[in-house]
Amino acid sequence: MSTLSQDDLKTLVGHAALKYVVLGEVVGVGTGSTVNKFIDALATIKEQIKGAVSSSNASTERLKALGIPVFDSNEVDELAVYIDGADEIDRQGFMIKGGGAALTREKIIASQSKQFVCIADESKLVTTLGRFPLPVEVIPMAAQRIIRQFRAMGGEAQIRLRDGQPLVTDNGQHIVDVTGLQITDPLKFETQVSQWPGVVTVGVFAFQKAHVCLLGTAQGVQTLT
Ligand code: 5RP
Repeated sequence: MSTLSQDDLKTLVGHAALKYVVLGEVVGVGTGSTVNKFIDALATIKEQIKGAVSSSNASTERLKALGIPVFDSNEVDELAVYIDGADEIDRQGFMIKGGGAALTREKIIASQSKQFVCIADESKLVTTLGRFPLPVEVIPMAAQRIIRQFRAMGGEAQIRLRDGQPLVTDNGQHIVDVTGLQITDPLKFETQVSQWPGVVTVGVFAFQKAHVCLLGTAQGVQTLT
């Protein structure tokens, strides 16, 4: 019997998400390796949609390369559906996102979408958020103070580096990754951290949680609602 690799599971859920796309409309598109599988699948029905709103420069490039028109989020009032991955998701649909540093645009698009469909392989399902280092997009001049604030909460935080330098997001800001937290009340946590001066976006998606999760498992795609 052949076993499915993590990549196979991502392909499975990427394809399964097609059935949530509303034909004739603009679809919200997230970022990451799982979403890349969805974008490839979306290209097969590109004549039947108006286009996409994209959450990152990387996804925009991929969409355009496949001939899918990309709209600015300001050109669209409301999206029927937003399809995106997650670094962690619990059974209530609360997520940690931002492993690909695109969390701010992801949250913006999620907030303008009627339905958030999360696509993930089963390794992402957790009981309590916090195993994956929590990404937080910050204004660079506030980074060290925010790191101290997380330390006071019991977490360890560091600025994400790329090639030895602070990673610069699509929005020109930095990412702080926080380990050692158990996020038992995601709504409260998101409310609290979002208010710290210099925090652009915290990678807890509680207010913009997933309505549906298509989870890739060895037994096939499980739908969690
Ligand atoms: C990017 C994200 C991604 O959805 C998350 O990192 C999951 O990525 P992948 O599908 O590659 O595991 O939040 O900012």
